[in-house]
Amino acid sequence: MHTMNETPVITIDGPSGSGKGTISRMLARELGFHFLDSGALYRLLAYAANQRGVALSDEEELVRLSGEMDIAFPADGRDNVVLLEHENVGDAIRTEAAGDGASQVAALPSVRRALLERQRAFRSPPGLVADGRDMGTVVFPDADLKIFLTASSEERARRRYKQLKEKGIKADYDTVLGDIRGRDERDSKRAVAPLVPAADAIVVDTSEQDIDATMQCMRDLLKNRLNP
Ligand code: DC
Repeated sequence: MHTMNETPVITIDGPSGSGKGTISRMLARELGFHFLDSGALYRLLAYAANQRGVALSDEEELVRLSGEMDIAFPADGRDNVVLLEHENVGDAIRTEAAGDGASQVAALPSVRRALLERQRAFRSPPGLVADGRDMGTVVFPDADLKIFLTASSEERARRRYKQLKEKGIKADYDTVLGDIRGRDERDSKRAVAPLVPAADAIVVDTSEQDIDATMQCMRDLLKNRLNP
C-alpha cells in the first residue's frame, strides 16, 4: 500500500510570544497554503467542555468531545474567526481563562491522541503551514521544513506586556515575566509532547528580529530547502 503523503507541510513550533502565530499565518497566506492553528483546537475543546458542563479532568468525556465537536476555520483570511457548531467563538477562545483551560486539556495524553487525526486532516493540497508546540515532533514528523521559533523570556514578556496594554488590560511587567518563565518550565518538562525542537528543526531566535526580518529568514530557509 502506498501511504506516503506528498502534500508539503511546514511546521512552526515554539513558545507563545515567539511570533509564531503571526509568522505562520503570513507564510501560509504568502504560499497560498492551508493553515492549522493547533492551539485553537485545545482552546476550542476547553471552551466546548465548559459550555457542556464537562469537567476538564473528565478524560473520557473530553476524548468523546474531541471527536464530535463541529469546528471550522473559514479560509477567507479572517484571522479571528473560529466556528464551533456554526457559532463564531474566535474572541471567546482567546481569553486567559480559555488559555488556562487549553493548557489543562493539552496535558492529557488521551486527548492529544484523540486530536491527532483531526490535525493531520488539515494536510491537503496545495500544502499546509502548521503552528503549535508538537507539530514537527509528533503530528507531522515527516514535515518538509521544521522551524522552531523562539525568543528570550524577557523579550516575550515585553511583547505580551505591550499587547495587554494595547488591549487596555492592567498589567505588570515582572508578573508577566514570572508567568512566562513558569509556563516555560511546565511546558518543556511535561511528560507528553513537551515543548522541544524536533531533532531536524531549524531554531530561529526572534529576540532581536522584527516580523519582516523573520519573514525574510523564512523565505531564505524555504528557498534553500527547495533548491539545495
Ligand atoms: O498557542 P496557544 O496559546 O493557543 O495554545 C493553547 C494551549 O494549548 C497552550 O497551553 C499550549 C497548548 N498546545 C499544545 O499543547 N500543543 C499544541 N500543538 C498547541 C497548543
